[in-house]
Amino acid sequence: MKKIVIVMPSYNEAANIGKMIDVLFEKEFQKIKDADMHLLVVDDNSPDGTGEVVKRAQKKYKNLHLLTGEKQGLGMAYVRGMKYAMNTLHADATIEMDADFQHNPIYVKDLVNAFLEGADYVIGSRYVAGGSIPKTWAWHRRAVSFWGNLFARTVLFLPKLHDVTTGFRLTKVKGVLDHIDLDHLMELHRFAFKVDLFYQSVNLSKKTVEVPIAFGTRKEEKSKFSLMEMVATNKVVLLLRLRASQKLIKFGIVGFIGFVINAGALAFFSNLRFPEAASWALSTELAIISNFTLNNIWTFRAEKIEGLSQLIKKFLQFNLTSSGALVIQTVLGALMVRFFGDHRTIFLLIIVVFVVLPYNYFMYNYFIWKKKK
Ligand code: GDD
Ligand code: MN
Repeated sequence: MKKIVIVMPSYNEAANIGKMIDVLFEKEFQKIKDADMHLLVVDDNSPDGTGEVVKRAQKKYKNLHLLTGEKQGLGMAYVRGMKYAMNTLHADATIEMDADFQHNPIYVKDLVNAFLEGADYVIGSRYVAGGSIPKTWAWHRRAVSFWGNLFARTVLFLPKLHDVTTGFRLTKVKGVLDHIDLDHLMELHRFAFKVDLFYQSVNLSKKTVEVPIAFGTRKEEKSKFSLMEMVATNKVVLLLRLRASQKLIKFGIVGFIGFVINAGALAFFSNLRFPEAASWALSTELAIISNFTLNNIWTFRAEKIEGLSQLIKKFLQFNLTSSGALVIQTVLGALMVRFFGDHRTIFLLIIVVFVVLPYNYFMYNYFIWKKKK
């Protein structure tokens, strides 16, 4: 049976935590027959005695765990909790959830079911059919949440996912959570770390599923979310984009160097009065060698190919994909000239930018330097 640990950070939640624990253990966990459900409260020594309430409840529920520590922010609390869930409790999946009932415990079952049906990452989403934000939220709070999400989805190219900042999610440990460097997530002392965690989880997950949640209003204490949190969230979104684009930028630079080598060598061999075809073939192959080498040690250094036999095999494949580009370019070029007339330079540019470069980038990512998972 799969072991699922809810990691629940709490700070001054004494008014909520006791009831939350009872509702989970007596009602919601009872509905889940196919998983071994645990709750781990990560309390930052709340002055209001939240930890004491949990300790008392531990006498009643054996699957209730408590981690205490200094207050270092929400991200740090989650990192501590998730590590404990993985390393000490040996969880198969963890759930991120708030203690203040804004995350209704009835959705735990939905998250768990999606996981048991094969999802690696399950997002409790407020912005899909059936999900919602509180009707009582003021317009500016709605606007911040809505536009913040839209901004993040656009910048990170995630059209299919609708809630990037939700705090209610399930993550499979094997292959997803255990592949994330939790200590180095961005903005760990704030809420913004959630977006970094989200983006990495989505990228590692083979199957991501959204389930609708109605985000509740808060009964006790006031929200810890603020303007600074919003600014930090948008900063994380932009930094993530930059990090993801780095590969693409390097790929472009390597391609440009390849072009310069190709042109330079072509002129050189022609000057030496090499036969025409030999000049072209040799200079093209030099560019291919340069592209392969530089991409291997720089662009795709995280997936670097090593060992002589692997290098030879991949280099031959690389030549093959390069010939693929040659074929595409020749066929498309000839067709375009035939149908649209004599505008070779423009056509070449269009084909290279819209077809050959995306083709190369795709082949490099998915065949030559395939991600090691
Ligand atoms: N241990 C610990 N340490 N817990 C904390 C800390 C901290 O520094 N800060 C907040 N928490 C706990 C709270 O006690 C609560 O259980 C949960 O984390 C969320 O804090 P809230 O203050 O209730 O946050 P919110 O309701 O404003 O924010 C919600 O919306 C965000 C954006 O949509 C949450 O669902 C967030 O998870 C979500 O990112
Ligand atoms: Mn809350």
